[in-house]
Amino acid sequence: GLPERVRIHEVGPRDGLQNEKTVVPVEVKAEFIRRLAAAGLDTIEATSFVHPKWVPQLADAEELYPLLTGTGPGPDTGTDTATGTATGTGTGTALRGVRLPVLVPNARGLQRALALGAREIAVFASATESFAKANLNRTVDESLAMFEPVVSQAKGEGLRVRGYLSMCFGDPWEGPVPLAQVVRVCRALADMGCDELSLGDTIGVATPGHVAALLSALDGDGLHGTGLAVHFHDTYGQALANTMTALQHGVTTVDASAGGLGGCPFAKSATGNLATEDLVWMLHGLGVETGTDLGSLSATSVWMAERLGRPSPSRTVRALAGA
Ligand code: HMG
Ligand code: MG
Repeated sequence: GLPERVRIHEVGPRDGLQNEKTVVPVEVKAEFIRRLAAAGLDTIEATSFVHPKWVPQLADAEELYPLLTGTGPGPDTGTDTATGTATGTGTGTALRGVRLPVLVPNARGLQRALALGAREIAVFASATESFAKANLNRTVDESLAMFEPVVSQAKGEGLRVRGYLSMCFGDPWEGPVPLAQVVRVCRALADMGCDELSLGDTIGVATPGHVAALLSALDGDGLHGTGLAVHFHDTYGQALANTMTALQHGVTTVDASAGGLGGCPFAKSATGNLATEDLVWMLHGLGVETGTDLGSLSATSVWMAERLGRPSPSRTVRALAGA
């Protein structure tokens, strides 16, 4: 059966904007996130604390994050350390109660995130050696060794930790990725203490049978759907079909990007993520709750598309906008 409710993990401001050719002004990023929250999204991946030369698009993390949490100058500021959510007034008010996870690759990234009061982080591993090298300048095992102290320190400080795994289905250099290879790295991330694993189809090549096979293999290793999220890119138009398969296997957290923005600058042929609006259209049609308002979401993506100077690739956004 299907879940009653799905948690949408919105990645547009991070996965979407990391892939834009131009750097979006920080105030536009903050407004994008506020609008997404106002549309009902309660988990919005805000930015990355990675090397600024690797991802210049997100090099403004230190400026952006305080705009969201209300920890910048102004009255009644602060971050509620018990919930890790924004408590400030002013710019932060729209984001009260919203989870704002950030990507962190290493100790330096964690230090930067903690300094700004982040309460939720994600480390990001690869199932393949080629992408580990391209994305992290490490082998798979070296990157796991880099994450291990980060996860343990973050857990020690009471943070929630997500573990991403990229290239779970196919890799642009290596082709199809063996299930056992994916299970091995998932197991390592789980053993490290990650609260949730997100299975990335970085280049969007997965099809539903492959998704079912991977989820069954993970289940066989004690990694059940309830602790997993799925992260589909829509390169081949399979993201919704793959999502449906994942829901039937017990997954209740789905990553999506408003308007279908996204990609990865370190993986050729990675296009936009599953569009949040396409996901919400399907889920609401199935009677599955998301807590979001499709009209506001879609209006937000139209607004963002105007700022980026090109239409949203989301079919649902286009249909609702009458384009
Ligand atoms: P490196 O060059 O090996 O770095 O990069 P290093 O550890 O050798 O350090 C070199 C210098 O960088 C040092 O400075 C560090 O302090 C500094 P120096 O001592 O030379 O002056 N440095 C940093 N500065 C600021 N913040 C930091 C940081 N770390 C080191 N965090 C590194 C290794 C991991 C840093 C680099 O490869 C990197 O930043 N990679 C990030 C790549 C990335 O963000 N990719 C996109 C996200 S993943 C994705 O999109 C996939 C996903 O969506 C799921 C899917 O679709 O599959 C999640
Ligand atoms: Mg991605």
